[in-house]
Amino acid sequence: MKQGPPLQESDISISCVVNDSLVQVDQVDVNTSVLYFLRDHLNLRGTKEGCGSGDCGACTVILSDLEGDDPSYYAINSCIAPAGVLNGKQVISVEGLAIGETLHPVQQAMVDCHGSQCGFCTPGFVMALVDHSLKPDVSSQCGYADVVSAISGNLCRCTGYRPIVKAGMDACARANPKQFVPTDDVRAGLLSGLKEERGEQNYLAPDTELELAQALANPLPGRSRLLLAGGTDAWLEVTQNLRSFDQVIDLSKIKSLTQIDESHGRLAIGSATTQTQLLEYFDQDPSACAHISAFLHRFGSKQVRNRATLGGNLCSASPVGDWSPLLLALDAELVAASLKGRRTISIRDFFTGYRKTCLGADEYLASIEFELPADWRAVQVHKVTKRFEDDISSVFLALNLHLDGLKISGLRIALGGMAETPIRFFELEDFLQGQRIESLDWAGVKNLIRSSLSPISDVRASSEYRSAMVYQLIRTTLLNE
Ligand SMILES: Cc1cc2nc3c(=O)[nH]c(=O)nc-3n(C[C@H](O)[C@H](O)[C@H](O)COP(=O)(O)OP(=O)(O)OC[C@H]3O[C@@H](n4cnc5c(N)ncnc54)[C@H](O)[C@@H]3O)c2cc1C
Ligand code: FES
Ligand code: FES
Repeated sequence: MKQGPPLQESDISISCVVNDSLVQVDQVDVNTSVLYFLRDHLNLRGTKEGCGSGDCGACTVILSDLEGDDPSYYAINSCIAPAGVLNGKQVISVEGLAIGETLHPVQQAMVDCHGSQCGFCTPGFVMALVDHSLKPDVSSQCGYADVVSAISGNLCRCTGYRPIVKAGMDACARANPKQFVPTDDVRAGLLSGLKEERGEQNYLAPDTELELAQALANPLPGRSRLLLAGGTDAWLEVTQNLRSFDQVIDLSKIKSLTQIDESHGRLAIGSATTQTQLLEYFDQDPSACAHISAFLHRFGSKQVRNRATLGGNLCSASPVGDWSPLLLALDAELVAASLKGRRTISIRDFFTGYRKTCLGADEYLASIEFELPADWRAVQVHKVTKRFEDDISSVFLALNLHLDGLKISGLRIALGGMAETPIRFFELEDFLQGQRIESLDWAGVKNLIRSSLSPISDVRASSEYRSAMVYQLIRTTLLNE
């Protein structure tokens, strides 16, 4: 073990590669975010804090898991990621872009295109564009829409986006994708540093489900803990100083929880599968899965999608979580696991109240499974938000429709944003069952929505607006308007 000052109750040590250098730091409080690890512990203050809640992208950095000789890179919001995730990884911050006096092509293009005024958002935009420049197929993705999508998780309040987009279009294909690959010496140093890590109990990152189950079954007496997947929900509370924990259990390293398996007409998705992985899966057949793929492109931003998991989306049990209505419409089954074994729960029984699930304290969600639709086009989703990209739904409708000619022969309707939990709309399903599309009783539909639903009113939308949207969305979907 490495010698050093005694660790505090909630301290961890971190061994990672920062830009091109090996970094080993002790005495990092487990509640520290990547952002404040860079700024306070390493004095790298180029990465900015704007919102502190994953919304503005000012804190964007790029991570690599350093797997293989040709590691891949992904952007994250450093404000909502715990510093503990950096162990064994490489993080690239804006300080690591220039080589000597020569700016990175994206930085130079931002200067040439006048892409910065006050400059506060600029490191975040630059990092989002550099991340785009590191994609293997970037040379065919430098068009206007590609660059707009690459920066859709970043906000600027003063320059305006046109010069930033122009900078991205000019520069993305000119970057050297190999620039950030660490030397063999740095990698070897990282591996030996990881062996000497201290404070592992405070930031547990198990490699197997058994280790995870053991950790959950044996809480440290008198110490608070957080089970963490991507942290895009849970870490918000920490970063906004609402809560702090003595121990974090990070399940993102467990390979069996990040698999997507298709067999015997069923899809089984590991709970730690990220939205980016899901997008890649559904993008394999964009024509058949167009609705799902389009919805996933609107899930948070790419920084959020790179961390946000499917399991985290369900277990946070938010009434406005997008996957819950979709999985209700697919009548999914959830597999929960603990040292005692595994049990299967219908998604209809999973949510027990506002932000509550039926999982026990020693249980974790292992996988999400459902019968693959014969045709994904039967499954329609509608996400209603104030802003098109990177916004939480005020209403989410998922509809799984089967027609016999023009007669409705099977229907599941599920809604988010309408109650304390995501809901199946059984009353309307029963009402519409057997009706013919061309002669639907629309007045009856409206009455049923009014009498059966009492939607929440909050900052996103009023109760009346939500009801009106449900009617309109159902009409639009069934009439294919
Ligand atoms: C800027 C921003 C935009 C967002 N946009 C969207 C959006 O468009 N749509 C949407 O639905 N959500 C959105 N979210 C919310 C959030 O990103 C999602 O809910 C995400 O899927 C949560 O996953 P996570 O892996 O980050 O969960 P975490 O934050 O790690 O965990 C959330 C909760 O689930 C628990 N948990 C996680 N995994 C498991 C498991 N396997 N077993 C048991 N418990 C578990 C954790 O203990 C915690 O209580 C957004 C968030 C931000 C910050
Ligand atoms: S500071 Fe705004 S996304 Fe992190
Ligand atoms: S340059 Fe000022 S916020 Fe973007």
